[in-house]
Amino acid sequence: MVNICCIGAGYVGGPSCAVIAYQCHDINVTIVDLNQARIDAWNSDNLPIYEPGLDEIVFARRGKNLFFTTNVDQAIIDADLIFVSVNTPTKKSGMGAGMAADLAYIETATRRIAQVSTSSKIVIEKSTVPCRTAQSMRTILEANSNKGIRFDILSNPEFLAEGTAVADLTNPDRVLIGCLQTPEGFAAQQKLVDVYSRWIPKERVITMNLWSSELSKLAANALLAQRISSINALSAICEATGADVDEVAYACGTDSRIGPKFLKASVGFGGSCFQKDILNLVYLSEQLFLPEVAAYWKSVVTMNEYQKMRFTHRIVRTLFNTVTNKKIALLGFAFKKDTGDTRESAAITLSSYLIQEHANIAIYDPKVSAKQIKMDLTEPGVGTNEADVNKHVTVCGSVYEACADAAAIVICTEWDEFKMGQTDYQKIFESMQKPAFIFDGRLILDAPKLREIGFRVETIGKSI
Ligand code: UDX
Ligand code: UDX
Ligand code: ADP
Repeated sequence: MVNICCIGAGYVGGPSCAVIAYQCHDINVTIVDLNQARIDAWNSDNLPIYEPGLDEIVFARRGKNLFFTTNVDQAIIDADLIFVSVNTPTKKSGMGAGMAADLAYIETATRRIAQVSTSSKIVIEKSTVPCRTAQSMRTILEANSNKGIRFDILSNPEFLAEGTAVADLTNPDRVLIGCLQTPEGFAAQQKLVDVYSRWIPKERVITMNLWSSELSKLAANALLAQRISSINALSAICEATGADVDEVAYACGTDSRIGPKFLKASVGFGGSCFQKDILNLVYLSEQLFLPEVAAYWKSVVTMNEYQKMRFTHRIVRTLFNTVTNKKIALLGFAFKKDTGDTRESAAITLSSYLIQEHANIAIYDPKVSAKQIKMDLTEPGVGTNEADVNKHVTVCGSVYEACADAAAIVICTEWDEFKMGQTDYQKIFESMQKPAFIFDGRLILDAPKLREIGFRVETIGKSI
């Protein structure tokens, strides 16, 4: 029987290790966290994160070979393999502030492993980290370990996307496992290959050296985000010329060298990974004295910020250059559909800009709580404070409540329930002030049909 411990019961550690337990009934998986409330939620009927299909997997294996606990030390002692899936947020102060990853959580977890282990372990870096973090982990482990104990370090970055985590984990494009190119490193790598090979075809489990594996994770996210910034840059040209960004994306995507995915223009990308990973890459490039490379990747984030600002300007301009005291319905607050996660969501920036213009915003999202929305809008750096939020923000329980009496609707997240078949736009039109405006930041609505109802429609990447 193999024992796996996962340190960190978040968006990455929770689903990825739950799927291992589901696929391998003879492996004991213990997911630990310091946060008691989070562990309690994992042990309840109401899991702390929303992912389609995750409930079934957790409920099927919990208490059998899948356990959630705050007893970190015992789980480390019992484990053969330890995944480190703690948070690595962008540093808020000090060296590399606003760019470099804060590795304090990784270091604390690593030191704990060294301190309490009474047998040799394979330690697997799962969180997204800057290149060469594995080297630091190894140094800490070796300097602090008890006699006769060996630690082998692997890099096994996670590529799951939120909202499709279970499908991505069950049927991934690839799994990357990096190791030190030594006999011991290869042996450790093989142990993890053996776990994944239980349900993933062998050719998709790719092995390489540690540093390639660490860099590949940052590179994949940077390339994906770069596609979105590229299509968003083109959306600005489309709006100015009369080209249609969906048509342009389709035309480009049919070139097999380019491919059709990740070319959907939007109000801007969000999520906990894209911006953070690119900024990590920028910081790394600067540290390596490669300023041109740093500037190249930085421009992907600059374009994303520009897109959010550009869309807000379009809203204000269209609403006769003022939104003061106007009710604006903001539909969607999560950074994309099918998740309750709001980290770096474009909706936060948009809300903040609109509040600064003194608009009254009515927000509805099917999966994000009022508490979360208020917390996000009062975070330092967002540009709005508690007084602004209390005065200008209402969180609503339905699309219809948010839109009633509004001057405009802004689609921020592409939730299916906002689509034409599922929401009654005729009914909404009747409840709104006139002229009734819709700003589609996700290209999910049928603009000609809405115009037939009487709406004035403005869509990203399209001019009227
Ligand atoms: C991403 C990567 O896809 C995943 O492989 C990695 O492990 C973590 O980061 P995630 O952040 O969960 O996953 O979501 P993703 O689907 O990549 O979307 C990121 C953002 O880009 C969202 O805000 C989404 O709305 C936006 N997006 C995506 C677009 O604006 N247009 C697109 O065509 C695709
Ligand atoms: C290009 C487009 O491919 C083609 O669709 C368009 O009609 C004209 O421009 P071409 O310039 O003939 O075609 O050659 P292409 O094969 O695209 O290569 C362009 C340059 O990019 C070459 O110098 C090539 O060596 C380089 N390249 C291409 C790389 O450096 N790396 C690659 O992965 C691909
Ligand atoms: P991610 O999206 O990378 O999974 P999250 O913030 O959702 O990030 O999850 C990381 C989790 O790791 C948090 O729940 C946090 O409490 C936990 N964590 C951080 N440091 C430690 C530690 N030293 N021991 C146990 N858990 C930790």
